[in-house]
Amino acid sequence: MNKKLYIQTLGCAMNERDSEHIIAELEEKENYQITTNPQEADLILINTCSVREKPEKKLFSEIGQYAKIKKNDAKIGICGCTASHLGESILKRSKAVDFVLGARNVSKISQIIHQKRVAWVDIDYDDSSYIFSSKQNSILKGMINISIGCDKKCTYCIVPHTRGNEISIPTHLIINEAKRLANQGTKEILLLGQNVNNYGKRFSIPHRKINFTQLLYEISQIDGIQRIRFTSPHPLHMDDEFIEEFAHNPKLCKAIHMPLQSGSTKILQKMKRGYTKEWFLNRVEKMYSLIPHLSISTDIIVGFPTESEEDFLDTLDVLEKVQFDTLYSFIYSSRPHTEAAKWIENKEVGEIDEEEAKRRLILLKDKHRDILTQNNQKELNNIHSILFESYDEQNKLLEGRSDTNKLIRVKAGRNLVGEICKVKISEIKGAQLIGELM
Ligand code: SAH
Ligand code: SF4
Ligand code: F3S
Repeated sequence: MNKKLYIQTLGCAMNERDSEHIIAELEEKENYQITTNPQEADLILINTCSVREKPEKKLFSEIGQYAKIKKNDAKIGICGCTASHLGESILKRSKAVDFVLGARNVSKISQIIHQKRVAWVDIDYDDSSYIFSSKQNSILKGMINISIGCDKKCTYCIVPHTRGNEISIPTHLIINEAKRLANQGTKEILLLGQNVNNYGKRFSIPHRKINFTQLLYEISQIDGIQRIRFTSPHPLHMDDEFIEEFAHNPKLCKAIHMPLQSGSTKILQKMKRGYTKEWFLNRVEKMYSLIPHLSISTDIIVGFPTESEEDFLDTLDVLEKVQFDTLYSFIYSSRPHTEAAKWIENKEVGEIDEEEAKRRLILLKDKHRDILTQNNQKELNNIHSILFESYDEQNKLLEGRSDTNKLIRVKAGRNLVGEICKVKISEIKGAQLIGELM
C-alpha cells in the first residue's frame, strides 16, 4: 500500500521546485503518493518561506492545526527557508514536529523521514553534482535550477542566510536536463535562481568561462524547447549584450521580471542594490526600444527605513514611467541576520510608521491598478502566440499564456493543449483577455 504525502508550499518558485524534488524523491524511493487531504496523510510537510515576518509567525499555529487533524501516527516535517533559519529551535518550540530540513538540504528528504526529532540545515551542503528532480507539475512546462543561494547582501533580505552562498550549476548538467525535458515533450522551460543573470560567477568544480547570456543562447539551440523564461534576474546585471540577445532570440519569451525594490536612488543605495533610478530607467528604455510589446513585472518594498515622502514619490514616478504589467508589492519587514535589522536594533535608523507604510502601499497598488487597466485596453486586436495549457470540454474553452505571460482564454471546438497558436485579442472583460484563433 502506498503511503500518503501532503505538502504545503509557500514562498517563491524555488520552493515550488524544491517541493517537486521532495515529491519525486518520496514517490520514487519511499512509495509515497500525493494527497490534497492532510487528514489522510502519513506525512505532512510544510515547505516554508521566511522572507517576511508574518508568514513565519503563522507557522507555529499552522503546525498546531495539522497536529490536531492528522492521523495518530502521521509525521510532520518542516522544510525550506524557515527550517534553515530557525533550525533546531522549531523542534524545541513544537513537540508535534518530527524533523526539520533546510532549503539547501531537500535532496536528503528520503533519509530524514526515518529519523526522530532531528534538524538538518547545513548551509554549506555541496551541490556540485546537482541532481534535478524528475517530477514536474506539468509536462508542457519544466523548471530548471541554474544557480542556488545568493551572494548579494541586500540589506533587507534574509535569503542569503537561508539559502547560503551562490553557486552556479555546471552548464552541461543544465543542458542535459533541458534536452531530457525536450525529449519528453516539454515546450517551455523556466530557469530558476535568486540572481539568474549572475550565472557563471562561481562553480564548485572547475568550469569553462560562461555568462548568463551565453547560457541562454546554448539552451535556445536545443530542438523542441520552444520557449524560455527565467526568474529572477537582477537589474544590475542587465548589460547591453544580454538585452540584445533577449530582444533578438525568438525563443526568449518577451516578459521579464525587473525587481525595482525602490525608485529612489538614496533608498537603493541603502538597500545595497547596486543600481540607481537612472540605470533602471535606462535599461527599461533600451528594452522597450527593441521590444515595444515587452511585458515587465516588478517587486517593490515600501516603508524601508528612512524612506521619505520624496523617496516614495520617486517609486511612483518609476511605476508611471515603466508601466509595469505586474506588481508584487510589500511593506518592509525587518528580518534577523540582515544589515537593516541591525541599524534598527542599534537605533541608527527609525522604522517607518506602520500606518504610513500602509498608506504608501495602498497608493502604490491603486496607481498600478490604473496602469494595468490601461495596459489591458491596449491589448485589443493584438496578436499573441499562446501555448495552450488546458481545455474545458464542456464550455469549449482553451486557456494558455502568451509569450508575454498573459493568461488568455479562447473559444475553440477542439482541444489544442500543448500547441502554440496565434490568437487575436477580441474582448477585454476587466482583467480578463479573450481571444480568437487565427
Ligand atoms: N532574488 C530576488 C528576490 C527574492 S525575495 C531579487 O533580488 O529580486 C522576493 C521579494 O521579496 C523581493 O524582491 C523583495 O521585494 C521582497 N522582500 C525581500 N525581503 C523583504 C523584506 N525584508 N521585507 C519586505 N519585502 C521583502
Ligand atoms: Fe535577497 Fe537581494 Fe539576493 Fe534577491 S538579490 S535574494 S533581494 S539578497
Ligand atoms: Fe521565501 Fe526562501 Fe523563496 S525565504 S522567497 S522561499 S528563497
